[in-house]
Amino acid sequence: MRILYVGDVMAESGIGVVEKLLPALRRERDIDLVIAQAENLSDGKGVRPADLQRLRAAGVDFCTGGNHILHRPEIYGQLNDPEAPIIRPANYPAGTPGLGYKYATTPKGKVLVISLLGHIVGKDAEKPMDNPLQVVDTILTAEQHTPRLATIVNFHGDFSSEKRIIGYYLDGRVTAVIGDHWHVPTADASVLPKGTAHQTDVGMCGSLDSSLGVTFSSLIPRWRDGRVTQNVLETTGRMQLNALDITVDEQTGLATAAEPVQRIY
Ligand SMILES: [Fe+2]
Ligand SMILES: [Fe+2]
Repeated sequence: MRILYVGDVMAESGIGVVEKLLPALRRERDIDLVIAQAENLSDGKGVRPADLQRLRAAGVDFCTGGNHILHRPEIYGQLNDPEAPIIRPANYPAGTPGLGYKYATTPKGKVLVISLLGHIVGKDAEKPMDNPLQVVDTILTAEQHTPRLATIVNFHGDFSSEKRIIGYYLDGRVTAVIGDHWHVPTADASVLPKGTAHQTDVGMCGSLDSSLGVTFSSLIPRWRDGRVTQNVLETTGRMQLNALDITVDEQTGLATAAEPVQRIY
């Protein structure tokens, strides 16, 4: 089977990119399951149900979550519902709304999808989080007898070292470990020695001529002059889609190929 993991869909520009490009990509590559990072979907932070519906209509089957996924409470009902195709990171402390892993349904069978946050993620570094390596071990043990075709782990973090470590830690135990949060793709997509697809960061969907989707004119006064500025989302200029196309051996549940997909227009 083929699974396409689509990097952070950044606000209206990102939704537009997915609506424009994903239907054809899905057909051309014979994709069975599309998973997208949704933490920035609605105006850059959180998820409105109507925006999630737009992604679904464009061909996204399931959404992972990062450090902004809890920003809008109107999505908590779906995060809590085991049948709704959206999760938040699994290593938030007990009592946090939502589920950290669920099964995605495809015509060929079920796929387990897990989201995790790294220890260091921007300003959230001081929030208490459970250890992602220990949490993923607990999940894989709990789900070891549930039949499935693949297991996809999303690792949302800032440290390249930590994002490399989790890939090798899970090599041979899951189908793919896909890093995100940077909004910039890394050139290291590969299948690791024991069969797990890995990329330190898959990148984003949305404005290319911006800082992670935000206008330079709203950010330069902050970085140069120390001013307090509001982020303004870039809606013009070149647009980008970044994703990872994973080929899965359905007998072993491991990856046989991991191909980065980049489109710019
Ligand atoms: Fe993001
Ligand atoms: Fe993030």
